[in-house]
Order: sequence, then structure tokens, then C-alpha cells
Amino acid sequence: MRPYKVVCHMATSLDGKVNGKNFDTPTTLFFGEEYESIHQKYHYKAWICGRVTFEEQVTYGKQVDLSKYPDTDIPREDFIADTEADAYAIAIDPSGKLGWEQGTIGDDYEDRRGEHIITVLSEEVSNRYLAHLRTIGVSYIFAGKSKQLDLKLALDKINRHFSITEFLLEGGGYINGSFLSAGLVDELSLILIPLVEGTQQSVPLFAYGDNPFQPGVEFILEKVEPLANSGLWLRYRLKQ
Ligand SMILES: NC(=O)c1ccc[n+]([C@@H]2O[C@H](COP(=O)([O-])OP(=O)(O)OC[C@H]3O[C@@H](n4cnc5c(N)ncnc54)[C@H](OP(=O)(O)O)[C@@H]3O)[C@@H](O)[C@H]2O)c1
Repeated sequence: MRPYKVVCHMATSLDGKVNGKNFDTPTTLFFGEEYESIHQKYHYKAWICGRVTFEEQVTYGKQVDLSKYPDTDIPREDFIADTEADAYAIAIDPSGKLGWEQGTIGDDYEDRRGEHIITVLSEEVSNRYLAHLRTIGVSYIFAGKSKQLDLKLALDKINRHFSITEFLLEGGGYINGSFLSAGLVDELSLILIPLVEGTQQSVPLFAYGDNPFQPGVEFILEKVEPLANSGLWLRYRLKQ
């Protein structure tokens, strides 16, 4: 048995999508606030998102200038900058693409401001990027030699280094799919938005990229709570 639990907390349309051109309406913005308020209700110390979600919602595609750092070998060992933080934002960023500028979430994401950033990398990232993370105080964990990371190894290490026992997995669809196929999702917390998104290209709740054929995973309904504006909050636990 793992010494930690993972709850996948997401807001989805009626057709199971997590983004798309119709996700910008006043209705979906309302459910964005519900999403945040339920996130707070969990009182978990850590949440996890994929590189694409962090780029879209936190770093806004910023790139840092790495040319000021020397290309000196840095051992591929975990770097722990802060074990006393009140909360942790965990990014799955195998290639080191995210343009972090400080060791905590900044003013651009007010609800999560001040939370310490942990990034999960592959050993392929550059020495200069590691030097940058050390300089600004972002913690980093290695979870694989190449881009396809071992997510269980990542959570095992974070559990050990930071004593975190509860994680909210908060999308997007590809990172959710990766955690689900690694057997790392224990519960679902789904906000059902009364909207059919409809866009073909929009991302589903669980997505699998190049490996679309996955065994089915069953869940048991634990609780249903109506929300304002015809929404629902659904909670499921994994069927063992
Ligand atoms: N409705 C909601 O509740 C909600 C919540 C969160 C996000 N979203 C939306 O979801 C959308 C983004 O979703 P997304 O599915 O495209 O992206 P994502 O899940 O945020 O990030 C996907 C990226 O994570 C990395 N990754 C995923 N699995 C991995 C694995 N096993 N090993 C190593 N790296 C792995 C890869 O990064 P690299 O490409 O760098 O290799 C991959 O491209 C955004 O539009 C966002 O707004 C919605």
C-alpha cells in the first residue's frame, strides 16, 4: 500500500472535456470559482499539474534567459529547496520547459500565491536549466532518464522528501491519463458543468497520446452534491 493518496480534482463538461472554445463563458467561469473553492476545502498541501497547464495558467509561456549560467555539469540529484512550506505546487515538466522566475507561485495566480514549486524532471534537462532552478529556489526531483517519466517514483520521492501524504491531481487530460494508467488515481472529485463543449480537438478528462488503448478503470460513486447553476460535484473512489 502506498503511503499517500491521490485525488483527481477536475471540472468537466457534459461531454467529458476539460478545455475548449466554449470554456470561456460566464457559466464556466462560475464553475472555475467553484473548482477553486472545492480545492481549498480539501486542505491538501500539494497539487499536481502537467507542463501544458502550468504554461497556460501560471507561467504564461514565459522563457528564461539561460545564457548567463555556465554549462557546468550538475549531478542529476534531487534538489530540495524548502520542506517547511504551507503548500506545494508540483509540475510534471520532463524537458524543463517551464519558465519559472521564482521559487513560489507569484501574483499571476492569486489563489495559490506563495506556494512552493517542485518540478519533476527527466535527466535530459540542461545543466543551465538546473543552475537556474537552484538560483531561484525551485525544488526539483528526477523521475526518469528520458521524457517518459516514472510518476510513481516521482510521488514516492516527494512523499519522502517533503512528507506529503495527500495530492490533488489537477490536470490537464494528458497528465491525468498518465497517472491513471500508472495506477496512481485513488479518487475522483469532478465538477460537472452543464455545458456540451463540442469541440473535437478539446482535451478529455483522461487522455493517452500515442497509447490510446488502455484497460478500463472502474470507480464507485461516493457522493453527489448539487451546485448552483445546474452543476454537480461528484465524488468517486477507485473500485479495487
Ligand atoms: N477543467 C479543468 O478542471 C482543468 C484543469 C487543469 C487543466 N485544464 C486544461 O487542460 C489543458 C491542458 O491539458 P493537456 O492534457 O493538454 O496538458 P497537461 O496534462 O497539462 O500537460 C501535458 C504534458 O505533461 C507532460 N506529461 C504528461 N504525462 C507525462 C508522463 N507520463 N511523463 C512525462 N511527462 C508527461 C508532457 O509534457 P511535455 O510536452 O513537456 O513533454 C505533456 O505534454 C489546458 O487547456 C488547461 O486549461 C483544465
